Amino acid sequence: MANEKKLVQENVEGHFFVDTTCINCDTCRQLAPGVFGDQGQFSFVRKQPQDASEEVEAMRALLSCPVGSIGNRDPKSKDRRDDFPLKLTDNVYYCGFNSPASYGGNSYFVTHPDGNWLIDSPRYLNHLKEKFTALGGIKYIFLTHRDDVADADKYASAFGSSRIIHRAELSAQPQAEIVIEENNFVDFAPDFKIIVTPGHTRGHMVLLYKKCVLFTGDHLSYDSDSKTLSGHEGHCWYSWSEQIKSMKRLAGYDFEWLLAGHGNRVHLPKEEMHLLLKKLISRMPEQG
Ligand SMILES: [Fe+2]
Repeated sequence: MANEKKLVQENVEGHFFVDTTCINCDTCRQLAPGVFGDQGQFSFVRKQPQDASEEVEAMRALLSCPVGSIGNRDPKSKDRRDDFPLKLTDNVYYCGFNSPASYGGNSYFVTHPDGNWLIDSPRYLNHLKEKFTALGGIKYIFLTHRDDVADADKYASAFGSSRIIHRAELSAQPQAEIVIEENNFVDFAPDFKIIVTPGHTRGHMVLLYKKCVLFTGDHLSYDSDSKTLSGHEGHCWYSWSEQIKSMKRLAGYDFEWLLAGHGNRVHLPKEEMHLLLKKLISRMPEQG
């Protein structure tokens, strides 16, 4: 519950506000970019919703904020809980309800005839558990890396799921059922390729679904303001030179959707995505 006594000073007047418990993770700015801005230390309300669609976006941000820092003084606002998981494209959903345990990292859900996948983990909530159940449960939980496991153990226990993690990240989820040993890629199932991308962490992995949707964890993200890709050079915990190598290997694959742990969701023609990735790779040696 957000606290009126701890308001971020830059909030504009109106029913939505952010308090100083905000961890500035970017979840609200992804979900409601017209309403929330970044003042450096915290997110804040830069403009109150101007129409019904911005009101919906702001309410979704309120629910997904991992630390409950967004408040709403209007008791008539409609609860948007039922919007989650939020459908992005055929069979692919954004879970919402980001977890503070993964610093507000995004998680995603894919429905598939051979069993559904959860990619990284949201907070464990009965609401999501019921929604996942209605969509057919969770067969696999793919963990991109150690930072974003959140409540994966609780979902695995509830659904009898198999958690997939790389050997080098195993200490973050020691009971994981499937441990990836490879250092390049794994054709895990017909529509799912696991690509090992060391750099941000030693055993970071990304997941490519149907040669179209790439779930990138903290390896690669998109910024919609600058329209550029980023490798989070300020948050590379293992090796920037390894991350450059991983990025070059990733350039050998086609994808159109980039769904990251942080940063904006993006869908572009694969040729355009390739071009952005090549530009990033050329910048990387000077970064880090
Ligand atoms: Fe991370």
